[in-house]
Amino acid sequence: MIVRLHDGMKSVPLAEKSPALDTQVVKEQFVVFMSALLKGNAEEKSGTVLKMISATAGTVKASQILKFAEDLVGSVVHVLSYRKALQGWNLQDPRNVSSGVKALASQLIAELKAADGKRTEGAQALDAICDQSSVEDWLFRVPQVSAFLSVIIRQGLLVLHSLPDQARDPLHILPACKGAKGGRFASLLDIPSVAYINSHLPSELQHKWRLIFASRVHGESFTQLCGHIVNQGPCVLVLKDVDGYIFGGFASCSWEVKPQFQGDSGCFLFSVSPSLAVFTYTGYNDHYMYLNHGQQMMPNGLGMGGQHNYFGLWIDGNYGKGHSKAKPRCTTYNSPQLSASENFTLDAVEVWAVGDLPEDTTGKGAKSVLDADPEAQALLEMIGKSRQSEGLREPVDDGDGN
Ligand SMILES: *[C@@H]1O[C@H](CO)[C@@H](O)[C@H](O)[C@H]1NC(C)=O
Ligand SMILES: *[C@@H]1O[C@H](CO)[C@@H](O)[C@H](O)[C@H]1NC(C)=O
Repeated sequence: MIVRLHDGMKSVPLAEKSPALDTQVVKEQFVVFMSALLKGNAEEKSGTVLKMISATAGTVKASQILKFAEDLVGSVVHVLSYRKALQGWNLQDPRNVSSGVKALASQLIAELKAADGKRTEGAQALDAICDQSSVEDWLFRVPQVSAFLSVIIRQGLLVLHSLPDQARDPLHILPACKGAKGGRFASLLDIPSVAYINSHLPSELQHKWRLIFASRVHGESFTQLCGHIVNQGPCVLVLKDVDGYIFGGFASCSWEVKPQFQGDSGCFLFSVSPSLAVFTYTGYNDHYMYLNHGQQMMPNGLGMGGQHNYFGLWIDGNYGKGHSKAKPRCTTYNSPQLSASENFTLDAVEVWAVGDLPEDTTGKGAKSVLDADPEAQALLEMIGKSRQSEGLREPVDDGDGN
């Protein structure tokens, strides 16, 4: 990425002929380059980014753009880790970082169109020829590319560090990771997938993820799952099946136990492994979310998308089993089958509440009244309600007091 940044700066044409400086970048080139990448629109960035993909050519193959995307994502992970800006997320086994980086890079170029305007699909996709207008279109439709470049420049090169209002990264590439026992909890998600899923959340929810349920911590029980996730505001649900497939969904509204569909068009499903992708609302029906427990008449379990007995994502009320049905796509989210087999066995589940708690309008910390008010707690204890309330609400375990 350093070489690419250098190539991008060198490619800026100079107004005046300067003495032949073969390897050095002059100040004018540096400034024009930074301004294009940090402030420019897709059109203004496209020429520079094309030179970062290939220093010499006017057209490039899709495979070169994929390599650039891999360098870009890998550099973001490196920079955030080096600058200790992982926000509490665990960097897992370093050998495993590369598979997450490749998955995100592949997903970033899925939107790429060749120079002839066609999608680069199929076996020859990586041979497709792309020109500057392909790059411009790509930058326009995949905002993560510009966001990642900005992180590398700001946090990697520490450019703009001295400007107080710009020094802080407002992009929230990674949310603050809360409730994960001081980083000792290893999530099913890796850094690239957290960054990618977070980029699809409403911007006001991107700053913080709070672990509210993990089957490995709270037990493999549907009652536990229900008890921990209801009334917690928008949540990201992540599942791993016994075949190693990782996938999940974003619930844009608080989960409620009831025999009706709930949620709104902000919900989406996603796949993390073997490939990374997000599947958004199609408009076909409103079967966004479903959570039911202990009912005789209606199915018990947690579902997203599709219909009863045919969910895009389903965890059975008996826990341990689920399904992801799509022939070939789930109606609500246009998602393919997310699990390795249609009927799957669960390996692990985790749920993250995103953003601040819905009740928390003061911004003074996301604690329940019971945490904030020991007197209320003591009163409840006196009337014997304490246990019951504790069951409804897991004490906030941020470990850092906010
Ligand atoms: C990645 O991590 C998983 C455990 O999370 C492990 O089973 C697997 O072997 C690792 N892959 C590589 C390439 O190290
Ligand atoms: C999945 O389970 C359903 C109902 O239990 C069954 O009808 C269906 O055939 C199963 N699918 C596969 C692929 O085994």
